[in-house]
Amino acid sequence: MQVNELVVQSGPSAAKTSGLEGVVVADTRLSQVDGERGELVIAGSRVDDLAGHASFEAVAANLLGEARYPLDGHLPTLLGRARVAAFVRLADRALGVAAINPMSALMALLAGLGDELDVVGVLGAMPVLVAAHARAHAGLSAIAPQAELGHAADFLSMLGIADTGPRARALDAYLVTVCDHGLNASTFTARVVASTASDTVSSLVAAVGALKGPLHGGAPGPVLDMLDGAARAASPRAWLEAELAAGRRIMGMGHRVYRVRDPRAAVLERAVERLDSELAANGGHDAERTRGRLAQARNMERAAEALLAERHPERRLRANVEFYTAILLEAVGIPRELFSAVFAVGRSAGWLAHVEEQRRTGRLIRPQSRYVGEVA
Ligand code: COA
Repeated sequence: MQVNELVVQSGPSAAKTSGLEGVVVADTRLSQVDGERGELVIAGSRVDDLAGHASFEAVAANLLGEARYPLDGHLPTLLGRARVAAFVRLADRALGVAAINPMSALMALLAGLGDELDVVGVLGAMPVLVAAHARAHAGLSAIAPQAELGHAADFLSMLGIADTGPRARALDAYLVTVCDHGLNASTFTARVVASTASDTVSSLVAAVGALKGPLHGGAPGPVLDMLDGAARAASPRAWLEAELAAGRRIMGMGHRVYRVRDPRAAVLERAVERLDSELAANGGHDAERTRGRLAQARNMERAAEALLAERHPERRLRANVEFYTAILLEAVGIPRELFSAVFAVGRSAGWLAHVEEQRRTGRLIRPQSRYVGEVA
């Protein structure tokens, strides 16, 4: 892909770069997305070597270290304390936003953290706020965090899913897989807010707003809706054709940067396989359900890829991270309306590292627009 390092100029001579595609607006040490080769490097390591091998805490510490954020002591301990502190301050407020959707509630609760909270305080608060809202929404009381648990296991516990084994490992692999991804829309949003010298919490609130959109982080819930819909249709292809005929996009397919299959799709697909075999070893019906869903998803992916290749021979549209996010989070036991908020819990590590990195540049991000209106 051609990379355009020019700032888009205003005025009649401005180069039109639709959606800022290919425009570089920051130097970063945090992650590298190679869209042609389908490779993702996070804080110096390939995503395949991280997910399932390093904990979320370890990868978050690497990201914050690359952003030169000072971490006194071990991040797991600091994060455990931050979860408890957030619970004490904010869990009750979840009742006040119980009726609104999880992403809007997350923005409201985050904003309530105040301007003074530091990076670790915000990172620790994220799962607490999501879980407290989910419980309040379901009419249940909040479950207090356990500082000694890992971040993923404690998040599950606060959601009412008690599993420090297979499901916690799968969720941990997921949080690692999505923790950073170049200058995606929400990370760019966080950096723009940070560049104005605003506070950390404000950057994160704005980033959550960007992630909420279905073209960015809002797709995995609809991916499950798609699989359910296709199961009722004559065939996956018939369902997909009807969607396209109605002018809708196929969720979980296509990407702004990748021209090959999103490498995170493969990482998450493997994590689901591992979860499935660990659940099977423990006995019970969950493994059977997961295996059935995985087979259905693979079938759907093949049908969608073939159909989109016919419709867009000029542009490879293949599965993105959200396709197998849906399968993994469902297998872990998380309700689909929470998928985007769980994504935010993982991505918050990257957002916070980018906020710190942007701050160090001290430079306001302020592009220009091209005026195409009239002058009276
Ligand atoms: N389903 C159907 N058509 C799609 C498509 C999809 N998932 N993704 C792209 N296209 C089509 C576009 O409509 C466009 O067609 P047109 O030229 O006839 O208008 C063409 O492919 C080129 O796409 P473009 O709009 O340039 O891609 P983009 O870089 O702006 O879009 C996404 C990237 C991710 C926004 C897009 O692929 C999408 O909407 N995917 C579904 C949502 C999703 O899964 N989001 C999660 C992303 S991680």
